[in-house]
Amino acid sequence: MTQTSTVVAQMRQLIQILAQHNHAYYVMDQPTILDSEYDQLFHQLKALEEQYPEYIQPDSPINKVGGKPLAKFTSVTHVVPMLSLGNVFNQEELFAFARRAEERLPNQTIQYDVELKFDGLAISLWYEQGVLVRGVTRGDGETGEDITQNVKTIRNLPKVLSTDQGEVPTLLEVRGEVLMPKAGFEKLNAENEAKGEKTFANPRNAAAGSLRQLDPNIAASRPLAFYAYGIAQCEPNHGQSTMSESLEWLQQFGFAVGERHFVCDSIQEVQAVYEQINAERPQLSVEIDGMVIKVNSLKQQQQLGFLSREPRWATAYKFPAVAALTTVENIDWQVGRTGTLTPVARLNPVAVGGVTVSNVTLHNIGEIHRLDVRIGDTVSVYRSGDVGVTIHSNVSSRTQLDFQMAV
Ligand code: IVH
Repeated sequence: MTQTSTVVAQMRQLIQILAQHNHAYYVMDQPTILDSEYDQLFHQLKALEEQYPEYIQPDSPINKVGGKPLAKFTSVTHVVPMLSLGNVFNQEELFAFARRAEERLPNQTIQYDVELKFDGLAISLWYEQGVLVRGVTRGDGETGEDITQNVKTIRNLPKVLSTDQGEVPTLLEVRGEVLMPKAGFEKLNAENEAKGEKTFANPRNAAAGSLRQLDPNIAASRPLAFYAYGIAQCEPNHGQSTMSESLEWLQQFGFAVGERHFVCDSIQEVQAVYEQINAERPQLSVEIDGMVIKVNSLKQQQQLGFLSREPRWATAYKFPAVAALTTVENIDWQVGRTGTLTPVARLNPVAVGGVTVSNVTLHNIGEIHRLDVRIGDTVSVYRSGDVGVTIHSNVSSRTQLDFQMAV
């Protein structure tokens, strides 16, 4: 055996082992080795690549290929626009969503695919001949930014598609969400704090901040993960007839999908699943802000189509905002870059929906008056995926009325 073939064979073997462990960890949720063992294999491959950069394999999880900081991101127009979802907030609105679908599909039975609504960043991934060639942010839905270098550093994301069950598509565009799982987020924040560096308010900000880095080495050092939730384009057609089958089909290539996923025969069943997941939310490995309900049949999805920029075949069912009580320790005025003054309440740190909150903006003097907030007051702090953390009301005895309204 020549030296070249030995080095390449070693690299291929390490890549294959790392991919198997990633699959076990992210897709099957059953880690087969310790993190430290994984790191050891990872560093073995990294060392080989440093010694023999000319043999770096295109599907290497280390990805130093082209890993130079960019001057700026380039804009990419989405071939298939990345649209958004309508929202429902309660059972009545959910049932109304189902009724509208039923009315447009008379005498048809409808099954619903129920997925986690990931609280991360939507991206689009292009695979040509089975190789990941492009990753683009959602942007405004029409045009996003090319973040290929950063997405290539995401460990649980297949860089090359392979399957033992049939052909790899010549073109595949997968849509999904980039997240920082809770455990990774907590570890990152603890490390940053120990180093005296900036910590992130929540996993979503941490994921967004990591993807926005022009230097892919920063993204590579962050514990990001990708979860697939749809196929925008596939050539030749994947041949699946339902949403749930499409997700299973993606899994065979190594894509991770949500750790919970349901197919329901009725909208009542959807409601029950929603309540179950809301209760299980703290045990999930990632942050979610609701469930996504989709008509399962792809044919029915096509029949239902879109109303302006939202599908009639899917909706987001948001969880109610999470609340906690804490006390105001101080109120500071922060000076912005343009000289604007913003009041900030310093709180006794409190956990709200998986994040520890110790500061919250009071926005302006009007808000201070509205809440009649003073140092020492007890306030109810709300966190919702959309607006972040806010002080909902002042529950001190002075303002008992607000408290009754808040609970
Ligand atoms: S399907 C036509 N499924 O929610 C749009 N979206 O408000 C189809 N999201 O920006 C989207 N989890 O990034 C879908 N399981 C899921 C999702 C999901 C999170 C995000 C998505 C989009 C936003 C829509």
